[in-house]
Amino acid sequence: MLKSFHRHILVGVTGGVAAYKAAELVRLLVKAGLQVQVAMTEAACGFVTPATFQALSGRPVLTDLWDPRVPNRMAHIELSRQADAIVIAPASANFLAKVAGGIADDLLSTTVSARNCPLLLAPAMNREMWDNPATQRNIDILKADGITLIGPDSGDQACGEVGQGRMVEPQQILEAVLALYPAQCLKGRKVLVTAGPTVEALDPVRGITNASSGKMGYAVAEAALELGAHVVLVSGPTALTPPPGCELRSVTSAAQMFEAVKAELSGTDLFFSVAAVADYTPAAPAAQKLKKSEQNLTITLVPTEDILGYVAALPKPPFCVGFAAESENLEAYAETKRRKKNIPLIAGNLAQRALGRNDNELTLFDDEGAHPLPAAPKLVLARQLLDHAITLAHLKERL
Ligand code: CTP
Repeated sequence: MLKSFHRHILVGVTGGVAAYKAAELVRLLVKAGLQVQVAMTEAACGFVTPATFQALSGRPVLTDLWDPRVPNRMAHIELSRQADAIVIAPASANFLAKVAGGIADDLLSTTVSARNCPLLLAPAMNREMWDNPATQRNIDILKADGITLIGPDSGDQACGEVGQGRMVEPQQILEAVLALYPAQCLKGRKVLVTAGPTVEALDPVRGITNASSGKMGYAVAEAALELGAHVVLVSGPTALTPPPGCELRSVTSAAQMFEAVKAELSGTDLFFSVAAVADYTPAAPAAQKLKKSEQNLTITLVPTEDILGYVAALPKPPFCVGFAAESENLEAYAETKRRKKNIPLIAGNLAQRALGRNDNELTLFDDEGAHPLPAAPKLVLARQLLDHAITLAHLKERL
């Protein structure tokens, strides 16, 4: 079963007798742990009431492009941005025609037009309507546009005729939705991630830190959660909300991060050291706020523990993945770090291309050499990194 942390499915119901089967689909999706929002066309409301779907999904059903409950009055954008996938069940001949033609004249068609996620259509109509050359032309267009069509089935129809056009069973639609998501190949595995900067106190109000938003580390934690892992995120101070489902250990200094990592090592299968850990810390932080004077100030810094180096040198280390943020000579520096720390995989990026941004460009370095990944959102890169680490760690085979 999928975890319920961020799989939002928009179920669109259009006018057709099969709308009653959409109620069962919503029930199955909710049972599978997905968050379901239902939107209905006006015609659909003639077959089944929104109250049924509200009861099953636990959310008010949207039917109106101008719904006053949506604060910015842009329900179509709200709905499409929340959704990880849109499923239209049943999809009437009229709705298929609208999607094929790019028509956006009500809430559901406008939402579909504004989507940035996969769209699945489960057609349902009378057999003659299905066989109609116009419908078949539309189906060709929809397929060419990369839209997934589920069914229709053939058999007895509500109108009393027999032929192709009936909506597939809700279970088949559920399976098509679940197939969109990665297999839970880290179920039963523990993934430990460090993220963000550390802050090394100079005095009670000042510190030495690294520039790091924590976004990449949080993305790695999220990608591991998607694969079903038990994720512990040891994070320095960031402005981010941890992905739901992970265990957060908040720390400030490198020493605290080291202790938190050591405390979590037991049972860890994969360790992603994404944090920008301070390499030095003040030898003797002042107990009280330092007062300024005209004199130069000299602070003695002592090296911190290399957390990744420590973990990688354990007799039975987890599979260790390091990060190298460089400002130049990425390949040479990243590979040198990988060898020095004796880790199987390191992800290198140019700090100036990554810092604070949602996108990044990563190059993975392993025994086989360098594997550049194209620029992409950090979560997309994190998924690719996880996939590479899982393969190298032979975790797939051991399941
Ligand atoms: N790291 C760590 N503990 C430290 C310092 C770094 O675990 N005290 C980890 C980082 O999380 C990252 C990798 O080591 O995965 C970075 O390697 P490192 O050689 O420490 O990088 P820099 O500190 O950037 O080295 P340099 O300043 O020499 O470039």
